[in-house]
Amino acid sequence: MEFVTYEQDGYVGIITINRPKALNALNSAVLEELDATFKAVDLDTTRCLILTGAGEKSFVAGADIGEMSTLTKAEGEAFGKKGNDVFRYIETFPIPVIAAVNGFALGGGCEISMSCDIRICSENAIFGQPEVGLGITPGFGGTQRLARLVGAGMAKQLIYTARNIKADEAYRIGLVNAVYPLEELLPAAKKMAAGIAANAPIAVRNCKKAINDGLQVDMDQAIVIEEKLFGDCFETEDQKAGMGNFLEKDKEKKLKVVPFQNK
Ligand code: CAA
Repeated sequence: MEFVTYEQDGYVGIITINRPKALNALNSAVLEELDATFKAVDLDTTRCLILTGAGEKSFVAGADIGEMSTLTKAEGEAFGKKGNDVFRYIETFPIPVIAAVNGFALGGGCEISMSCDIRICSENAIFGQPEVGLGITPGFGGTQRLARLVGAGMAKQLIYTARNIKADEAYRIGLVNAVYPLEELLPAAKKMAAGIAANAPIAVRNCKKAINDGLQVDMDQAIVIEEKLFGDCFETEDQKAGMGNFLEKDKEKKLKVVPFQNK
């Protein structure tokens, strides 16, 4: 891989977009490598992923403007689909993905962070959807996910004005869950990922699926989705171990990591 690196740290996988010369902008090659990297993750041994960018300045400064500059209408649509397919794969990936946003998250950079389950960022992070200033719409899911995350009114304001926002404002509007000094960002992401990985993996996966799938349908259908995934957990060893630990009232056992079990 030229533009994407993968590192395994226990149950946690760290995916880094590594094209610092272009502030980690997403061209076709980066998108293809990201796709291949996610598809190669070993789901038997990995319980949570972190997605970040190389360097201290940028998470992802958007889709590659040079590559997009000469696209025809059909090619533009195909490029949008290429990004959307990868981002949807990330969004529906069976295990949680934490975006550790270490600087610019503009256009496609903001959009890829929004396809992750959780966003945390560094104090120097800048978010924005600058596309209308370039004569295009957000094309990797921004019109859809930003509105779902921060509400239609705020999303419309940000997208129509193409105004970038700093980390504190991103926190205030609920686009990110927490802001850290740059050097503390990755340690914080790893700590959060390790905390997730210490919980019953099938239960965590089922929570992700229940939240994602439930948000696509009305409440009556959504609670049925939840009931099914809740029921599934009662076939797992983790449920027996987790509840057994509690009932034994043994503090040590209660705190122990439930044994890994996969489907
Ligand atoms: N595409 C291609 N190259 C990019 C890039 C991008 N999105 N963003 C930065 N780069 C490149 C620059 O061209 C520059 O390359 P050279 O050294 O070869 O000239 C290098 O990265 C460093 O960038 P700057 O010199 O511009 O760095 P800066 O610190 O002065 O500015 C910045 C940083 C404000 C992020 C500025 O680079 C910038 O505005 N980038 C574009 C941001 C943007 O508009 N993103 C949205 C793209 S559209 C999109 O993403 C569509 C979609 O939804 C699918």
